[in-house]
Amino acid sequence: MSSIPRDQWYVAAYGREIGGELFTRTVCGEPILFWRTRSGEVAAVSDRCVHRRFPLSQEPGRLVDDQVVCGYHGFTYGADGVCVSVPGQTRVPRTARLKKYPVVEQDTFVWVWIGDPEGADASRIPRAPWLASPSYSTVSGMEPLQARFGLLVDNLLDLSHETYLHGGYIGTPEVADTPITTEVDEEAGIVRVSRHIDDAECPPFYANSTGLTGRITRWQDIEYSPPCLYTLHSRIAPAGVLPDAGGGDPHAFHVEVVYAITPETERTTHDFWAVARDFALDDQDVTDYLAHQNRVVVLQDVVALNTLEKVIADEPAQYQELSINIDTGGLAARRMLARMSAGTSGQGAPAAAGRPR
Ligand code: FES
Ligand SMILES: [Fe+2]
Repeated sequence: MSSIPRDQWYVAAYGREIGGELFTRTVCGEPILFWRTRSGEVAAVSDRCVHRRFPLSQEPGRLVDDQVVCGYHGFTYGADGVCVSVPGQTRVPRTARLKKYPVVEQDTFVWVWIGDPEGADASRIPRAPWLASPSYSTVSGMEPLQARFGLLVDNLLDLSHETYLHGGYIGTPEVADTPITTEVDEEAGIVRVSRHIDDAECPPFYANSTGLTGRITRWQDIEYSPPCLYTLHSRIAPAGVLPDAGGGDPHAFHVEVVYAITPETERTTHDFWAVARDFALDDQDVTDYLAHQNRVVVLQDVVALNTLEKVIADEPAQYQELSINIDTGGLAARRMLARMSAGTSGQGAPAAAGRPR
């Protein structure tokens, strides 16, 4: 059975990736074709022609007046997936339609619903408002991961790895040394993991972007909304400086780290990352520095997780891990994900592909 939860919203792309050209990305094993129609909406349909499965995104397939023309024999489809013309006959088979995906563009992301469209409730999409807020400056990207999505979930819920895997970048000894608190909100479907470090070395990532030079107070408050959205509320302030009683926090620097964890296949993942800051908003040097440094950090994780995927592929099925306190959040997330994937069919072939007409 698949470990990928279906009947869920997933981030398929940044809005900026989708324009008036055909764009393809596989989500949860389903190849999806995207384009932005002339009215500005994102169209999302199966990227497999119903005739002979040719990927519609592949040349010489093309868009003509908001319709996609298959590059193999010319079946032509509208943005709703319905076939409007076929070659050599005037009658278009009634069943000639591509699977159409519910789409919501929100917080700079393009979300798609994978599963039964009946369940696609846009109000269930978790939010990351900082990414589109004028009060924040954001750097972002996406790295392909040759590893199953669960390994990225494990990685992000246990930040003690910063001290070792990201030492000299975002990790300092105090991260791994400070215990976490974990809270599972079953009703809201959120796992929260917090680590508040009172007195820590300021890692280069934050020293160079904030200008802080001395010891810092560093808070890391994670909220993971399985399966796709992860946020890390990061607060950095001079050591001993706390928010004031009224909730204001003028002497701290806030960084919202957002990941969208989207399975591409059972063994590969789209690793969307974004870092939004509430300081140095117009400072291009800080933007360039954070964009570069964060990508370096993400790639350190990518290398590690690609290695782990190979290790897992070669190990005996009954292999047992050993877990400790730092794994509490990751284990809670695994339980939620297992429940989600058990509640769905786990199979996802595009409904319209491959049948004779
Ligand atoms: S495969 Fe698309 S028209 Fe034949
Ligand atoms: Fe990491």
